[in-house]
Amino acid sequence: MAIFTRPIDGRKHASSIRRYLADRVAQRKSSMLPSLVTIVVGDNPASHTYVRFKTKAAKSIGMQTRAIVLHDDTSEHELIRRILELNEDSSVNGILVQLPLPSHHQVRKVVSAIDPLKDVDGFHPNNVAALVMGDQGFIPCTPLGCLYLLYAEGIKVSGAHCVVIGRSAVVGRPMAHLLLREHATVTSCHRFTKNLADVTRSADILISATGVAGLLTKDHVSPGATVIDVGQGRNGKGVLVGDACHDALMGHAGALTPVPGGVGPMTIAMLLTNTMAAYARQNPDEEFSIRDMFQNALALSSEHNWNQILPVD
Ligand code: GUN
Repeated sequence: MAIFTRPIDGRKHASSIRRYLADRVAQRKSSMLPSLVTIVVGDNPASHTYVRFKTKAAKSIGMQTRAIVLHDDTSEHELIRRILELNEDSSVNGILVQLPLPSHHQVRKVVSAIDPLKDVDGFHPNNVAALVMGDQGFIPCTPLGCLYLLYAEGIKVSGAHCVVIGRSAVVGRPMAHLLLREHATVTSCHRFTKNLADVTRSADILISATGVAGLLTKDHVSPGATVIDVGQGRNGKGVLVGDACHDALMGHAGALTPVPGGVGPMTIAMLLTNTMAAYARQNPDEEFSIRDMFQNALALSSEHNWNQILPVD
C-alpha cells in the first residue's frame, strides 16, 4: 500500500524561528542586545564554514555576534583564559567553542571552563546533568532541533516508541534523554546493537544520527513511521546524503526529513534560541520561554509567510 510521505522542511521551520526570534530581539526591554561569541581554533575548513553560518544567522535576527579565531597551535591554557574572560564579560550572553578542537586540547576540560549559564551548546557537565535530571539548563542544539520538528509537524512524542540510532555526546545521547523527558518510550541503538532492523521496525519515530550513508532501508522502517535523519554522510559520488535511503522511504515512511534541508538548518535555529534564552536568564526583566516557543510551533509554522524569509541558508 502506497503511503503519502510528508517531507519535513527544516529550512521553512528554521526560517519561522528566525522570524519569531527577530521579533523577540526587537521587543526586548534592555538597550543591550543578546550576544553570542563563537571561538574557532585552527583552520578546519568545515568549522570555519559552520561558524560563518552561525554568525550570519545571529546577525540576521539582530543579535550581536563575533567570532574569535585562534591559531592552530593556541595552547589549552590560552584558550581557557579567553573563555574565562568571556565568562566575566556581562555583555556576552552565549559562548560556543566550535568542535572539533586540535588534538592537543581536551574537549571536556575546555567545555567545562564555559560558564554553564552561557553554554548555549549545552555541552557543559552541569547542563548534561540538568537534561538527565529534568532540570532547567541548555539542551544541545541538534536534538532540540529534532524535537522542534516533531512539535511543529504535530507528531506526538508522548507515549510514542522512539528509537535513536547513534550515541554521540552531541546528538544521540542527549536526544534519547530529551525524548525520555518528553514522555516517550526510548530505545538507544548503536554499532553493537544486534538485529538493528528488528529494533528500528518497532519505532513510531526513528531518529538516526550515524553518518553512515544509506544505512536505513525500507526494511528498517515500519510503514507510516516518522524518520528524522540527522546523518551527514557522503555517497559514492561525494554528494552529501543522510542515513536514510531517501528514495526508498518515500511512499513508505509517514514523514521524512531530507538531507540537506531537514535537521541541518534547525541546529543553527536552536543555537539562536538558546542564545535568546541565555539572554533572558541573565536579564530577569526579559521574557523568553523555549517551552512557549515549542508549544506555539504548530501555529508558528502555519503562519509562515514565504515573503518574510530571512535570507540565511
Ligand atoms: N561541531 C559540530 N557540531 C557542533 C555543535 O553543535 N557545536 C559545536 N560547538 N561544535 C560542533
